[in-house]
This record gives sequence, C-alpha cells and structure tokens, in this order.
Amino acid sequence: MVTIQRVQHSEADTLLAFSKKTFYEFFDHLNEPANMEAYSSVAFTPQRIRSELSNPNSEFYFAMLDNEVVGYLKLNFNDAQTEFKDTNAIEVERIYVSGEHHGKRIGKQLMDFALDIARAKQLEYVWLGVWEHNDKAMGFYERYGFEICGSHEFMLGDDLQTDLLMKKMLV
Ligand SMILES: CC(C)(COP(=O)(O)OP(=O)(O)OC[C@H]1O[C@@H](n2cnc3c(N)ncnc32)[C@H](O)[C@@H]1OP(=O)(O)O)[C@@H](O)C(=O)NCCC(=O)NCCS
Repeated sequence: MVTIQRVQHSEADTLLAFSKKTFYEFFDHLNEPANMEAYSSVAFTPQRIRSELSNPNSEFYFAMLDNEVVGYLKLNFNDAQTEFKDTNAIEVERIYVSGEHHGKRIGKQLMDFALDIARAKQLEYVWLGVWEHNDKAMGFYERYGFEICGSHEFMLGDDLQTDLLMKKMLV
C-alpha cells in the first residue's frame, strides 16, 4: 500500500526529476530523440514545474513507498484544464508509476484517489487525454470505466500527435 501525499513547493526538484525520468522511461523508445528533447526542454524545467505547483487550480500528488517516490498524479480543475475547462470536471493530466512498480496496484490507488476527490467535490465527470498509441494506459483507463469522447492534437517537438480524450461520468 502506498501513501499518497500532496507535493509541496519544497519538493519541486524531486517532482521535476521524477516527471522527466518517467516521461523518458515510457516514451523515449517510441519517439525521435530531437522531439523528446524539444518537448522536455519546455515541459520539464524548474520554472515550468514551479509555476504549475503555484497554480491554485492544479494539484500534484506523490505515491510513496518506503520513503521513495514511485508514482505521481497531476490533477487540473477549472481553467487549468487543458480542454473543456468545465467547473464540473477534473482532468487527470498525468498519472505515472515507475516501471519497476507496475502491476502492484499503485496506479489503481492514484486513480481511486483522483476519483474520490472528484466525488467529494460532487463533480460530474473526470476526463483525460491519452496518446492514441498508448494501448497500455488506455486499457487501464477502460478498466476504470473511461470511454473515448473525442480527440485533440498534441505537438511533441515537430511531431503532430493525436491524443484521445476519455471521460468517466460520476453521476
Ligand atoms: C497506466 C499505469 C499508471 C497503471 O499503473 P499500474 O500501477 O501498473 O496499474 P495497477 O497495478 O494499479 O492496475 C490496476 C488495475 O488495472 C488493470 N490494468 C492495468 N493495466 C491494464 C491494461 N493495460 N489493460 C487492462 N487492465 C489493466 C490491472 O489489471 C488492475 O486490475 P484489477 O484491479 O482487476 O487487478 C502505469 O502502467 C503507467 O505508469 N504507465 C506509463 C505511464 C503512462 O502511460 N501514463 C499515462 C499517460 S496518459
């Protein structure tokens, strides 16, 4: 069982290192190095991470196992959402578990945590975007009752990619 705890400002460096590490772990072998570098040089900088941590409509959580970060979650509310910007919804923008801990129900605990927050706030739905080629994550989301409801474009460097949008209704 992991402990899920809100990421503090003082943990920005740990969050940055873990976010970048897991992004490369899962997507490096599927993309051009230059595109990975172009994206991460914008998305994974100390300034960017600190600004996201300061956004009152975003929340980051670590999954901790024996004092080690093994996963993280990023939730967006209101106008921090990358689409819809619906006050009755939460976006799960990121949910990552480091590879050596996959299949130990850590992703489940992070997802249940996100769904519990949405239910406690009496929101109507939770949504997320997932790369169309990320079959593993899509299977996981389907397992939790998310259904495809649209798509949007995403630039990874100069590669135009399609993210499928998936939604789980709570009411
Ligand atoms: C997606 C991810 C978070 C799942 O985390 P995990 O800790 O490995 O998954 P869990 O062990 O918690 O699995 C929970 C349940 O989902 C099921 N599940 C997990 N992956 C699945 C898949 N690909 N297809 C179907 N079911 C799946 C498990 O069987 C388990 O079901 P159960 O409750 O009936 O036993 C993890 O694989 C990950 O970090 N992937 C890489 C990063 C990524 O792609 N993130 C999403 C970006 S959009």
